Amino acid sequence: SILIVDFGSQVTQLIARRVREAGVYSEVAPFQSAAEAFERMRPAGVILSGGPASVTLENSPRAPQMLFDAGVPILGICYGQQVMSAQLGGNVVISGDGGEFGKAFVEVKQPCALFDGVWEQGERHQVWMSHGDKVDAIPPGFEPVAVSEGAPFAIVADEARRFYGVQFHPEVYHTPDGAKLIANFARNVCGLTGDWTMAEFRSAKIAEIREQVGSARVICGLSGGVDSAVAAVLIHEAIGDQLTCVFVDHGLLRAGEAEQVVGMFRGAYNIPLVHVDAEEQFLSGLAGVTDPEAKRKFIGRTFIDVFDAEAKKIGGAEFLAQGTLYPDVIESVSFTGGPSVTIKSHHNVGGLPERMNMKLVEPLRELFKDEVRELGRELGLPDIFVGRHPFPGPGLAIRIPGEVTKERCDILRKADAIYLEEIRNAGLYDAIWQAFAVLLPVRTVGVMGDGRTYDSVLALRAVTSVDGMTAEVFGFPGDFLPRVATRIVNEVRGVNRVVYDYTSKPPGTIEWE
Ligand code: XMP
Repeated sequence: SILIVDFGSQVTQLIARRVREAGVYSEVAPFQSAAEAFERMRPAGVILSGGPASVTLENSPRAPQMLFDAGVPILGICYGQQVMSAQLGGNVVISGDGGEFGKAFVEVKQPCALFDGVWEQGERHQVWMSHGDKVDAIPPGFEPVAVSEGAPFAIVADEARRFYGVQFHPEVYHTPDGAKLIANFARNVCGLTGDWTMAEFRSAKIAEIREQVGSARVICGLSGGVDSAVAAVLIHEAIGDQLTCVFVDHGLLRAGEAEQVVGMFRGAYNIPLVHVDAEEQFLSGLAGVTDPEAKRKFIGRTFIDVFDAEAKKIGGAEFLAQGTLYPDVIESVSFTGGPSVTIKSHHNVGGLPERMNMKLVEPLRELFKDEVRELGRELGLPDIFVGRHPFPGPGLAIRIPGEVTKERCDILRKADAIYLEEIRNAGLYDAIWQAFAVLLPVRTVGVMGDGRTYDSVLALRAVTSVDGMTAEVFGFPGDFLPRVATRIVNEVRGVNRVVYDYTSKPPGTIEWE
């Protein structure tokens, strides 16, 4: 295995992900407890992450010295490189020119085991830099093996001890060969075989959940989405009927979704499930509410109320299970430690644990969306469910700008189902990150047969994305959108005009509210 020592970078889990992609097991430990983690894991290699601190400050984080004495290969990334340099006798300074941020190029000066078989001497390669400090004297035993314009020590190596330092971030997407470098470190430098799979993640997590929960009862809130469903199935596999699921159906789901979840849990998995039909409560509370944040807050609060009331009825649960993913974790942590701006109040059952005084079970906390899908497949969840596009917690309410009514939800469900059916039929579903319809509070004039219509406008949206943080508009083949527009206007009463949303994120967001 590989131990990843976390110095607080926002992208530490991306390093873990790259190591998993290389088929190698890894664990992330904060720098404060890295020595204990090392003793426990006895890893074949260590990666030191980046971080927001400055090595030049006296009280900034350090790596446990024992890591450098353990005789295993070490890769230091950005802050990790600097900390290694400082601790082994080199020197780090604040860059006089303010640092390097963004795309940069490194030039390979010497061969090195870190990029053996990936990069050749004399080549130039794109990397992603983000640093204000830099190494200005390397420790004894090290040599510079690649340089960049702003960093004479872009890559340094001590081949005898198998210590490597890179100033750039190989874990991010913008370093095109980064994944290969990390895989090369894990397999060829650390000598790991690369046969670790999601099946092993599954058994490791099951053991962990059993250990954490013991004989206590666990309650899990299902939203209808993939994340909470995968978490519930995994936990059920670990502790069986100590788990009870509560599916709060707010009536704002897509066509057929509630039936699918209930059928799957009760039928295929035989997981104890309480299905709470709370449509009436949600819709009556949403009457007259038009402000997007007010909708989101009402739905979040009501979800908690309903869930809490059900949990009290069930009684005796000590743990609350949630399908929190890594991107949910980072979105709530600000990089600078200062307050970050709330663009939208995300609904992920936040607030529940404090209110209910329960301990959390969050087995998906280190995974990314596509890894959760892979785990879901591993657990035998149907492909059609696991591969579904993401769906926001507040549901259709935030796809109906203006007032949300039962009638408008029904119109939107029908139109959305036609749009998605056409997308599936055209074989485009998996090429799209998210596609959905939005029912606008705008009416326009149309003509149908010999009559005048005065009905709502429907907007269609489809985007591609890697993680939902940024998104590009999906370009449909020429005849696709006109065909969908015709079907929707013909088949859905209440819609007489269809438009397509061409906005990328940023500056737009994916959802309209
Ligand atoms: P935005 O609209 O912020 O959405 O660009 C980014 C991604 O997040 C989803 N989304 C949510 N997911 N609870 C969720 O679980 C929410 O409150 C929520 N709001 C937006 C959105 O569908 C997209 O995939």
